[in-house]
Order: sequence, then structure tokens, then C-alpha cells
Amino acid sequence: MADTYLITGANRGIGLEMTRNALAKGHRVIAVCRNPAAAADLAALQAAHGASCHIAQADVCDAAALDAIANAVDGAIDVVICNAGAMSARGGVADTGNTAEAVGSVLMTNMVGPFFTARAFLTPLSRSSQPRIAIISSYMGSQQHTGSGAYFYRASKAGANNLMVTLANELRAQGVAVAAYHPGWVQTDMGGASADLTPQESATALLARFEALDMAHTGCFINYDGTPLPL
Ligand SMILES: NC(=O)c1ccc[n+]([C@@H]2O[C@H](COP(=O)([O-])OP(=O)(O)OC[C@H]3O[C@@H](n4cnc5c(N)ncnc54)[C@H](OP(=O)(O)O)[C@@H]3O)[C@@H](O)[C@H]2O)c1
Repeated sequence: MADTYLITGANRGIGLEMTRNALAKGHRVIAVCRNPAAAADLAALQAAHGASCHIAQADVCDAAALDAIANAVDGAIDVVICNAGAMSARGGVADTGNTAEAVGSVLMTNMVGPFFTARAFLTPLSRSSQPRIAIISSYMGSQQHTGSGAYFYRASKAGANNLMVTLANELRAQGVAVAAYHPGWVQTDMGGASADLTPQESATALLARFEALDMAHTGCFINYDGTPLPL
């Protein structure tokens, strides 16, 4: 069945490959990015898929921009994918990159961004027969991780996981399934060239997870391969 997906951070990395994969499967995609004029890969997908690929502009820290996209949607959105994310200082407690401005930016993007995105699209989600919200998190945000460093990236993803649980609890009565996903370690600008998975491998696996997302999975943190993860 053809669904409508909304994907943030759709212009590169995992978001671009999820967009490509969803379109190839015959779904419609609202591809959200910060700078459509520079999104050449998305423009190529739009040229190939026509009206099935709609490109929209928003920074996920800008609630009004996300609301404006939602207000222009007449029909249903079936799957909202909160994918946009940013890395921050990767070092230890003495890393001078953890300025107030940098910390604020990563927390806004990775933690508040998914909340603003989910909130903005609740009305079009309510028109779907199987409404789903997928938050692309990271195992680096799990309380069970054994790593150090990257303090605020980890904290932002832990916060995103916590928001996912609260959203799942509140939206359960409306039948909206909400889950968080670890995409694997992926060869993108963020993951680097020596990562385990290609963006295509991660995106293909994630799309299969989103197709299977239902109320049995709401409130869960799930690996790209379907394995449950500890929050
Ligand atoms: N790659 C990995 O190994 C890995 C592992 C675990 C989790 N993740 C998560 O997977 C998601 C995608 O990561 P990726 O590897 O594809 O990263 P990426 O290649 O660095 O791409 C990040 C995407 O997010 C967008 N973005 C960043 N800040 C934004 C904002 N404020 N508003 C709107 N869009 C914004 C970027 O847009 P611009 O082009 O405008 O900057 C870009 O489209 C992220 O949430 C990341 O934390 C990745």
C-alpha cells in the first residue's frame, strides 16, 4: 500500500537514502530540508518521481516553519520520520567545544527537533489509518552504553528517547505508534567512511522497520535490524 512519509534531514546521508528507498517502493515523500536550493540529490529524485516527491523547507528547530508545512497538507501523513540530527564535540569532559552555544544547538536539533516535528504533523497523522512516528536516535543515547566522550550528542539522543516514550504514552489512545531507532554505524558525513553500513543498507532496513511499526512496538527503542535495544 502506498503511504505518505514525511522525512526531515532528507537532503543527504540516511535521510536522503530513506527518501530514495520510500519513493522506489511507490510511497509519497514530503522531503524536508534546510536549503532546498542546494539539495541537488533531492531535486533529481523529484525529477524522477514527479508529484510523489514534494520538497519542503524547514529547520527542525523552527516550529513555525514545520507548522507551515503541516498546514499546507490536505491529506494524510502515515509516517513521520524525525531524522535530522547533528553531532557535537566528540571529546571528553575537558573538550572546549562544549560551549553554551554549541550545546544549545545540538540539544535543540536532536532532542527538541523531533518534538517540534512530531507535534507539527499530528493533524495529518490523525487522517492516517496507521499513523506512525519514527525518531532516528542512536545507541550512543542509551543509558546502557559503555562509551565516554560526545557528552551532549549522547545526552541529546537520551533526551530524544525519553521524549519518544512520553509521546508514545500520550498518543497511545489515538492509535499513533511512536518508536526510536538506532540506524547502525553508517557511512555518512556524520558516521565517517569507515562505518559498518552503507546509507542504502541502513535505509532499507529502517524502512522495513517502519512498515512493521504498530501499537505492539510503541514506546520501544529498536535497532535497524529489528533487535530491541535498552533505553
Ligand atoms: N551515521 C551514523 O553512523 C549514525 C549513527 C547513529 C545515529 N545517527 C543519526 O541518524 C540521523 C541521520 O544522520 P546522518 O548520518 O545521515 O547525518 P548527516 O549525513 O550528517 O546528515 C544530517 C542531516 O540532518 C540535517 N540537519 C542537521 N541539523 C538540522 C536542522 N537543525 N534542521 C534540519 N535539518 C538538519 C542535515 O541538513 P544540512 O545538510 O542542512 O546540514 C542533514 O540532512 C541523525 O539523527 C543521526 O544522529 C547516525
